[in-house]
Amino acid sequence: MSLFLPDEAATIAFAARLHSALPADLAGWTILLEGDLGAGKSTLVRALIRAMGHTGAVPSPTSTLVEPYVLPRGKLYHIDLYRITSADELRFLGWNELDDGFRLVEWPDRAPQLLSDADLQIRLSYQEPGRNLAIAGLSGRGELLAAELS
Ligand SMILES: Nc1ncnc2c1ncn2[C@@H]1O[C@H](COP(=O)(O)OP(=O)(O)O)[C@@H](O)[C@H]1O
Ligand SMILES: [Mg+2]
Repeated sequence: MSLFLPDEAATIAFAARLHSALPADLAGWTILLEGDLGAGKSTLVRALIRAMGHTGAVPSPTSTLVEPYVLPRGKLYHIDLYRITSADELRFLGWNELDDGFRLVEWPDRAPQLLSDADLQIRLSYQEPGRNLAIAGLSGRGELLAAELS
C-alpha cells in the first residue's frame, strides 16, 4: 500500500489516521520507520506521540538512542538508530527490556534483526514537493493494520 503526502500537514494527518487505527493495548508493538534524512520519519513520530496525548517537546533521540514516554495508553519508546554502527549496540540500548511499551524505530536498517520483532514497516521517500508513504505489515496483526490503513 502506498500513498502520496503532498505536504507536512498530510504527514501529520496520516499520523492521526494511524493513531485511530492502532489497538488500545500497544505494549509489545513495533513500528519501523524507514527513509532518507528529511523524509519525514520524525515528523510522523512527533505527530503520533502528540496524537497519543503528549503535550511537551519531542526531542530527537539521535544521541540518546531512546526517548521514553509514559502516555495515557501506556509506555512508548521513540528509538533512533542513526548513530549505531553495529547491530550489537542494541544490547547497550536494552532492546529486550523495551518490550513493555510501543516501540517506534527510526533507521531500523541499522539493525536488520529487528525485522523479526516488528509489526509494521512505514517507508517514506521523497516525491517532490511531497513524500510517498508505503506501508507493509510484518506480522499477522501488522498486516491487518496495514489493510485498515489502505
Ligand atoms: N509530506 C511532506 N511533504 C513535504 N515535506 C514534508 C512532508 N512531511 C514532512 N515534511 C518536511 O520534511 C522534513 C522532514 O524532517 P524529519 O521529519 O526530521 O525527517 P527524518 O526524521 O526522516 O530525517 C521537515 O522539514 C518537514 O517539514
Ligand atoms: Mg528523524
